[in-house]
Parts: sequence; C-alpha cells; structure tokens
Amino acid sequence: MKKQPQQHSSRGCQEPRPHVAPSAGAGPGQGGAWRRRRPLSLLPFLSLRDYGFCMAALLLFCLGSLFYQLNGGPPHFLLDLRHYLGNSTYLDDHGPPPRKVLPFPSQVVYNRVGKCGSRTVVLLLRILSERHGFNLVTSDIHNKTRLTKNEQMELIKNISTAEQPYLFTRHVHFLNFSRFGGEQPVYINIIRDPVNRFLSNYFFRRFGDWRGEQNHMIRTPTMRQEERYLDINVCILENYPECSNPRLFYIIPYFCGQHPRC
Ligand SMILES: *[C@@H]1O[C@H](CO)[C@@H](O)[C@H](O)[C@H]1NC(C)=O
Ligand SMILES: *[C@@H]1O[C@H](CO)[C@@H](O)[C@H](O)[C@H]1NC(C)=O
Ligand SMILES: *[C@@H]1O[C@H](CO)[C@@H](O)[C@H](O)[C@H]1NC(C)=O
Ligand SMILES: *[C@@H]1O[C@H](CO)[C@@H](O)[C@H](O)[C@H]1NC(C)=O
Repeated sequence: MKKQPQQHSSRGCQEPRPHVAPSAGAGPGQGGAWRRRRPLSLLPFLSLRDYGFCMAALLLFCLGSLFYQLNGGPPHFLLDLRHYLGNSTYLDDHGPPPRKVLPFPSQVVYNRVGKCGSRTVVLLLRILSERHGFNLVTSDIHNKTRLTKNEQMELIKNISTAEQPYLFTRHVHFLNFSRFGGEQPVYINIIRDPVNRFLSNYFFRRFGDWRGEQNHMIRTPTMRQEERYLDINVCILENYPECSNPRLFYIIPYFCGQHPRC
C-alpha cells in the first residue's frame, strides 16, 4: 500500500522525459529537426510546456503593464489593497538605514616623532589631503612636546573642533582625549632606527636639510665652527656630551604621554 504512491509519483516524474529524450537521442534522419529545436537545449531542465508557460506569463505581464499605463493609474483593487494595508512606508516599518560606516577614521592625530622623516610625511600628506579632500591641520609649534593640563585641554578642544575628516600633526606627546571628555582620535606615527636617527639629528643640527635655508643657523646659532665641523666619530669615541646623552633617543615619551614620568 505504501509503495504504490511512490511508484505513481516516480512514473509522474518520468513522464515528461519522453518529450525531451527523442530529440536528444535523435537518429541521423531527425538531424534537421534537432537543429531547429536547438535553442531549447540552452535550458535543458525546461520542457516545452514549461517554456510556453513562462512566455505566456511574461506576455500577460506586458499586457497588464500596458493596460495599466493606458488607463492612467493602478487598478482599483490595488488601491483598495493599499488603503487596507495603510500608508506606512518601508521606513516606518524598518526605521532609517544604518549610518554609512566610512572605510577610514575621520579623526586622526599624527603626533610626529622628531627626526623620523616627519617633514617628508607631512609634505606627502599635504598632497594627499588635496587629492582626497581631508582637512590637514599642521601646527607651527615645533619645540613644545610636553604640555600643562590647561594646555592639553586647550589643544584637545582645538583639535576636536577641526572640520572632519581631519588629520592633525604636531610634535607632541600622546594626548588622552577621553580623559578630558573628548572622543579619542586614531593616532599614527613613524619611528626610525635609533642609530640612523642619531646620525640624522647630528647633521641636521649642524647643517639643516637644505629645505629651509639657514635652518642650522636658527637651530644652533651659537655653535662654534670647530663644533659644527666636528667629526661624528670623534664625538662618539671621545664621549662628547652631545654624543653620550641618552636624551637623543627621545622616542618613548611621544607614546607614553603627558605624565611627568614620561
Ligand atoms: C493614506 O493617505 C491618503 C492621502 O494621503 C488618505 O486619504 C488616507 O486616509 C490614508 N490612509 C490611511 C489608512 O492612513
Ligand atoms: C619655542 O620657540 C619659540 C620661537 O620659535 C620661542 O619663543 C619659545 O620660547 C620656544 N619654546 C621653548 C619651550 O623652547
Ligand atoms: C586653536 O586654533 C586657532 C585657530 O585655528 C589658533 O589660532 C590657535 O592658536 C589654536 N590654539 C592652540 C592652543 O593650538
Ligand atoms: C585615558 O584616560 C582615562 C581616564 O583617565 C583612562 O581610563 C584611560 O585608560 C586613558 N587612556 C589611555 C590610552 O591612557
């Protein structure tokens, strides 16, 4: 008793096959007919009846659409349905779409560690800011990396009010924005091999980097000629204060923060 319905349905499945099978297994005599019906073989899972049904539905839809436009509006029963369902829109039911998440942070601080190529980076950032339309804010203060509490608050307020997306740069120790109730920006920085950095600083203090004339004069105006032309090897081997002072490796405080211990 249980097997019979199964047999029935399996026969039902096999039934459409004869429509397709003869053309697929066509002998040489039926070659012409096979070629004519070839477009159908693009959809091998559809029988001719299914195909006809699809086309009829499409035709009906086209006629309906035409009728709709000629009649100058939707049919009455659709309006009635609409009235029945009420005037709520998708937005009413689902709320506004979630805010678009930018693929990059809109608040960035580059608290540039000195003598690590930061001037070159800022030049590049200047070009990028023009190309991508972000707000590059560079500070003119280069000799003050440690701030009092009031100065921190003032600077944080100043940075936070910059037009977003912004990128602020200054030689300054890490600032904790959340400590003063601000939104913590993303920090970026670049550091350099300490020995290279030491070399760079040694010569920069004496001769500048040719990007600003008289740069060395501004930095070390009182340096005597013998000192300016002092061989760096002599400076190191003979333990000159400039070359034995660990403060030359001044990198950590930029990441440590404004605490006196930093
Ligand atoms: C839908 O809006 C139409 C006109 O805007 C108004 O006449 C109709 O009463 C509203 N229907 C409901 C269910 O709010
Ligand atoms: C920083 O440089 C300015 C001049 O450019 C000077 O007036 C100021 O005293 C300097 N500040 C410190 C902390 O060295
Ligand atoms: C804050 O910003 C204004 C204008 O952008 C500037 O004049 C001022 O010097 C800034 N103050 C600090 C502490 O950076
Ligand atoms: C910033 O300050 C807050 C509150 O003082 C503290 O909880 C948080 O750990 C600090 N963040 C950093 C990165 O130091």
